[in-house]
Amino acid sequence: MERPANGSRAASPRRYLMCRPTHFDVTYSINPWMDPRKPTSAQVGLAQWKRLHDTFAGLGHDVQLIEPVPGLPDMVFAANGAIVVDGKVLVARFRHPQRVDEAAAYLDWFSRGGWSAVRQAEYVNEGEGDFLCVGREILAGSGFRSDLRAHDEVREFFGRPVVSLTLVDPRFYHLDTALAVLGESEVMYYPAAFSPESRAILAERYPDAILADEADAAVFGLNALSDGRNVILPQQAVGLAAQLRERGYTPVGADLTELLKAGGSVKCCTLELRGQGEV
Ligand code: ARG
Repeated sequence: MERPANGSRAASPRRYLMCRPTHFDVTYSINPWMDPRKPTSAQVGLAQWKRLHDTFAGLGHDVQLIEPVPGLPDMVFAANGAIVVDGKVLVARFRHPQRVDEAAAYLDWFSRGGWSAVRQAEYVNEGEGDFLCVGREILAGSGFRSDLRAHDEVREFFGRPVVSLTLVDPRFYHLDTALAVLGESEVMYYPAAFSPESRAILAERYPDAILADEADAAVFGLNALSDGRNVILPQQAVGLAAQLRERGYTPVGADLTELLKAGGSVKCCTLELRGQGEV
């Protein structure tokens, strides 16, 4: 395959929604990364998050903020708050009671926005944690969090093709921990996180995908965000960074080790706003 030269890809400006980790903590465990006995530092988390925020801004992206709510320590993971495509917003419905109340904050934020449609999902749906746009298609994860019925709901709400994928490794409980979108038809993923059927679907659709090894997946290297050229990813994922460079992308390392104690990193902190909302 013909490969674009180093750094030859084109970036497009993005709009992101983020939530400052003011109340960040690990006080419960809803994924294998979370151990409430391990100490966390909201201050370190905040400093790391701030650098990520400034990285996006420095690349010319527009970053909006939603106000963090006391008592919701996982709210920093804004990717889970909604799916926003073509100016339409489907707000999340969280699986675990510890996160359920985040949805009201997102409903409120988007209701004030100028979006063409805003409503909460009927079925358990953890937003961009499990739903990722690749070109016109939406890849949808299930197995741990989002309900399979949510996949149909998303297909109907956005009128876009939805491809269902099943996650099988509890460490990679959201789709965005096992797969990252790089371009209009390019992804990178960790095959062992998917069922054999889903692996076959991915191999068929993306024969040239970058495949992550266990080591890069285990540092959340796939919890990455691309603007078409720059790929922001955990800096510990050195193998993926090298592969990205080879394909003409510019990897940009971020240190989010404090937030990883809650099972989240770059992508989890970032919800992409696609479409016309004036906020
Ligand atoms: N502690 C959070 C949870 O388990 C982390 C969410 C990570 N977000 C993501 N988009 N993968 O729900």
